[in-house]
Order: sequence, then C-alpha cells, then structure tokens
Amino acid sequence: MSLSDQRVVILGGTSGIGLATADLATREGAEAVVVSSNPRSVERALASLPEGSTGEVADLTDVTQIAAVFDRIGSFDHLVYTAGEPLALMRLDALDIEAAMAFFTLRCFGALGSVGAALPHLRPGGSVVLTSGTAALRAAPGWTVAAGVCGAVESMVRAMAVELAPLRVNAVRPGVVRSPLWSRMAEAERERWYERTASGVPLGRVGEVVDVAEAYVFLMRQRHATGTVVTVDGGTLVA
Ligand SMILES: NC(=O)c1ccc[n+]([C@@H]2O[C@H](COP(=O)([O-])OP(=O)(O)OC[C@H]3O[C@@H](n4cnc5c(N)ncnc54)[C@H](OP(=O)(O)O)[C@@H]3O)[C@@H](O)[C@H]2O)c1
Repeated sequence: MSLSDQRVVILGGTSGIGLATADLATREGAEAVVVSSNPRSVERALASLPEGSTGEVADLTDVTQIAAVFDRIGSFDHLVYTAGEPLALMRLDALDIEAAMAFFTLRCFGALGSVGAALPHLRPGGSVVLTSGTAALRAAPGWTVAAGVCGAVESMVRAMAVELAPLRVNAVRPGVVRSPLWSRMAEAERERWYERTASGVPLGRVGEVVDVAEAYVFLMRQRHATGTVVTVDGGTLVA
C-alpha cells in the first residue's frame, strides 16, 4: 500500500525517530502532522519538512490537550507515537517513584490516551504504531522501570490489535539510536557511550534515526501485520 495521499500524525514527531519518520513518510507521498510540547521544536521540525506538513503543540501527559489536538487535526490515516524522554536508569534501592510514574505517564498513558482520542478520527484502512525499546526484553540492574514501560507498551499493542481490528496496531522496538534523546549527556561522554554500546552490538554500530523510521513506514504501508513488534537493534537482543 502506498502512503500517497495518506495523512500521518506523529506524536513526538519534531525530533529524532519521529522526525525521521515524518520525513520518510512525506517522501513516500504522505502528508505529515507533527506534534510535540515545545512550540520551538514544532517550528524547527516544520522548517526541515516539505511544504504541506503541519504541526501542533500539545503536552501528551495532559488528557485535555490530547483530546483538543485531535479535534484540531481532524481525520487522518496513521497514528505514530514516538513521544518520550530518556528512561533514566534507576536501581530499586534508590527508587524515585514519582520519576518512574512520570515515565509511565508519557510513554504508556500518553500513548493509551492518544489511541483512544484518535479513534473517531482514524480513517478505515489506517494503523497505529507505538514505540517500545529493547529494555522490554533485556534485563540488567537499574532497568526495572524502563523494562516496565517498554513491556507495558508491547502488551497494550497486542490487546489493542485484538480490540481495534481491522485497525492495525503495532510497535517498533529500537535498540540504542543516535538521536537528540541523548543530548543531555556531554558530547564527549555521549560519543564514548555510543562507541561502547556499538562494540556490544553484532552489527558494530548504534542505530541511526532513519534505520528505525523505515520500520514505522513499513508498519504503516503493509496490510497484514497487527499486534506485533518490529525490532531494529543491530542484533542487540540476539547477542
Ligand atoms: N534514541 C534511542 O536510543 C531510543 C532507544 C529505544 C527507544 N527509544 C524511544 O523512542 C522514542 C523516540 O526517541 P527519540 O530518540 O526520537 O527521542 P527525541 O529525539 O528526544 O524525541 C522525543 C520527542 O518527544 C517529544 N516529547 C517529549 N515530551 C513530550 C510531551 N510531554 N508531550 C509531547 N511531546 C513530547 C519531543 O518534543 P518536545 O520536547 O517539543 O515535547 C520530541 O519530539 C522515545 O520514546 C524513546 O524513549 C529511543
């Protein structure tokens, strides 16, 4: 199925993986609507996307703003949810439960609330693609909260696929990807971390946002996969 004349709404589409997905979808003929919480990010993203792309500002941790943004957007074909923040590692003996709840609020409840609010606006033949992460399946000390967030997204995808069929609902599970998500780290430290991570990845590199964007576009275009998760991690999970 071509994305030509399809309208794609990307929540978290103003940076990193979401912006790369918006860009790739427009190259496939789609019209992109990017949404995030900071008006400056929306403005910057629109400057880099083709004419015809539009943007909206909404904080996806706020249910009222989620409902309002879909009313402004109107009908569309595909919903992509890439809004997120770095899931700080948190050992259980130093658990910050409020920070943990905030991760769930944006990554899980934001996605859940967005799917619910999008339903009246999604056209037949459309799809939803959410975002998980390899933390769902790869445990290490400090990863409980991240594993919970990613695992919850994957479980929701399976249940949503059953309840919402024939709407297709899937997720992408990225490994470590070079993106602005990690910009809070100092540059030298970040580059060292990418290198260290790459050395443990079978393909010998960390992902680029475009590698992962290909998976979102695939899940929008194809017609027969639902309730599934596509891993794009350079082989991290099988090593
Ligand atoms: N990069 C990786 O290594 C990696 C690995 C596995 C999973 N992931 C997951 O993949 C997703 C995308 O990551 P990325 O690397 O593309 O990150 P990114 O470049 O930081 O993009 C995150 C996006 O989310 C938006 N956002 C953050 N808080 C928001 C809020 N409250 N309401 C609305 N939008 C909000 C940001 O825009 P504003 O700041 O304008 O709101 C931005 O557009 C995240 O869920 C991330 O955890 C990433």
